[in-house]
Amino acid sequence: MNSHNPPPTTNPASSDSSVGIIDALPLLEAKELTRRFGGLVAVNHVSFTVNKNEIFGLIGPNGAGKTTLFNLMTGLIEPSSGQLIYQGENISQLRPDQIAAKGIARTFQNIRLFGELSALENVAIARHIHTKSNPIMGMLGLPSATSEETRSQKKAQALLELVGLSDRAQEKASNFPYGDQRRLEIARALALEPQILLLDEPAAGMNPSEKHQLSEFIREIRAQFNLTVILIEHHVPLVMGLCDRIAVLDFGELIALGDPANVRNDPAVIEAYLGE
Ligand SMILES: Nc1ncnc2c1ncn2[C@@H]1O[C@H](COP(=O)(O)OP(=O)(O)OP(=O)(O)O)[C@@H](O)[C@H]1O
Ligand SMILES: [Mg+2]
Repeated sequence: MNSHNPPPTTNPASSDSSVGIIDALPLLEAKELTRRFGGLVAVNHVSFTVNKNEIFGLIGPNGAGKTTLFNLMTGLIEPSSGQLIYQGENISQLRPDQIAAKGIARTFQNIRLFGELSALENVAIARHIHTKSNPIMGMLGLPSATSEETRSQKKAQALLELVGLSDRAQEKASNFPYGDQRRLEIARALALEPQILLLDEPAAGMNPSEKHQLSEFIREIRAQFNLTVILIEHHVPLVMGLCDRIAVLDFGELIALGDPANVRNDPAVIEAYLGE
């Protein structure tokens, strides 16, 4: 063998020998994460870890910094200081597309769908991260492009089925009621085949029965896709019933972190957020 050959590169996720090491690490770690907007410290030296397969809740009053934390985790904004470590790698400076490609997908508090596109198209678009044909091949209808397109459509259709919207695949996204748009956004995030799914107030605008269904659904997709979920949600019974652990933010600071029973009875949390 030529001594100039580099050692074979392996994908950690698919290399048997490294699986144990990867699994022993927290999946995601925030280390002293801070984000300032001018004089305002929206996220202030926040540290926590999220383990693989956890459903991790993020709660706190309006303006506490929850969405800012998601924006940091998905590369929409950069930290002022501190780090985000994902599978042992510092991802603090990566772009949103690079972070998505590494397996972190999200939904938005203010739903971001392509209103003029159909439900199916909204989900199929996200699949492009997993299709390798270039646009010219697609335009010319060359074989690999068309078969990938077919696969994407099938996959998108299956995801619509999963979120209960398959019979309305061709309808414009803007025609869907609020709760359905939130489900559609989840389908689009799942199309990225993420390791971590970040949900920013997914139950907002849902009625009590839809909230209950959503909770069951999050449990199901965790099992089916071996997912880790980080959930921002104001509906406290949903968070308490669903999450393995909960972090509480107040004015950008982490004021509590633990299992639901501990967090519910924490005097600082009761004062800042839960009330009597
Ligand atoms: N891009 C920005 N520029 C300036 N200030 C910002 C920006 N994004 C967030 N903020 C401020 O940072 C603070 C935290 O906002 P953030 O949206 O993270 O709160 P939140 O916990 O998600 O609140 P809510 O429950 O209302 O969604 C707020 O004071 C907000 O006004
Ligand atoms: Mg928010």
